[in-house]
Amino acid sequence: MKILVTGGLGFIGSHTVVELQNEGYQVVIIDNLSNASVEVLGGIVSITGKTPIFEKLDLKDKLAVQAFFRANQDIKGVIHFAASKAVGESVDNPLLYYENNINTLVYVLQELVKLDESNFIFSSSCTVYGQADVMPISESAPIKPAESPYGNTKQIGEEIIKDTCKVNTNLKSIALRYFNPIGAHSSAKIGELPIGVPQNLVPYITQTGAGIREQLSVFGDNYPTTDGTCIRDYIHVVDIAKAHVVALQHLLNNKNTSNFEVFNLGTGTGSSVLEVIKAFEKVTNKKLNYKIVNRRPGDVISAYADTTKANKELGWKAQYSLEEAIESAWKWQKSL
Ligand code: WQD
Repeated sequence: MKILVTGGLGFIGSHTVVELQNEGYQVVIIDNLSNASVEVLGGIVSITGKTPIFEKLDLKDKLAVQAFFRANQDIKGVIHFAASKAVGESVDNPLLYYENNINTLVYVLQELVKLDESNFIFSSSCTVYGQADVMPISESAPIKPAESPYGNTKQIGEEIIKDTCKVNTNLKSIALRYFNPIGAHSSAKIGELPIGVPQNLVPYITQTGAGIREQLSVFGDNYPTTDGTCIRDYIHVVDIAKAHVVALQHLLNNKNTSNFEVFNLGTGTGSSVLEVIKAFEKVTNKKLNYKIVNRRPGDVISAYADTTKANKELGWKAQYSLEEAIESAWKWQKSL
């Protein structure tokens, strides 16, 4: 069975391709290589021994998207990762984000609704909740006004899919709201490849541990939390990847209760920045060089998932601990 993975050479996309291949699916990857290297393909093959079909294609090119689907009528499912995802960049360049994250989604959906039936998994984010009022955050938590154009494209994306599913019952879709994906495949053949200075905490920590960065800046320790630093739900990227396969099978086997469903992907446990640093030091037996600096604008105080819905309805639960995820991130960093 042929599954399309857009953005399939990216961080979460490549890990999902591995898990799809492990489950026997034939995978077609579309990637425009704007935020991924074609070498990732070799990493995937070195893990599974199976070569996905790869098409270098920019989904902003509507005619190219139409031609692709004309030539691939036998695609049974689409997992849509392709999007720009840097929060800060989206503030500086909103139109880049609205064009790249919204137009591409519309062009793919326009092709899917033409098929007899299609199954669509959308890469969403806990960022849609903003600073939720209640922890842990459930899927019924209110969607807050987006703090960035990036977050807005995820909210708009979910609305576009919901509206499309309402009038196209041949389209079944799931939006997966990731909390904070970290780590790498145990083989260290694929992992996170931040371009330039990492914006996210864990790659910055591993680069500091590797001596690539001088010192980690902890963005504020005067938040109303146990140790004053922000709390997040750090989840192993392989747990995230496996959830995509389970969600796809949920649709393929018609287990869905409506043709648009939303699930949180987290561990259900919150960890503060200082707790992540301590976990890194424990796992690596290295002292991390860091200092406390001012808060980063836009950061929420706390965000961790209520995972009941995915546990019950998808039969999926995160398996890896924070320390295991950090250990895999460190092993990947050392392999670079
Ligand atoms: C985590 C915590 C920082 C870096 C973002 C996006 C989200 C998703 C994941 C795409 C925060 C602190 C960080 C540093 C620090 N991306 N931190 N020093 O902001 O929770 O989520 O990435 O889907 O949509 O919003 O992740 O890793 O940037 O920050 O102190 O050098 O680490 O203040 O408290 P975030 P993050």
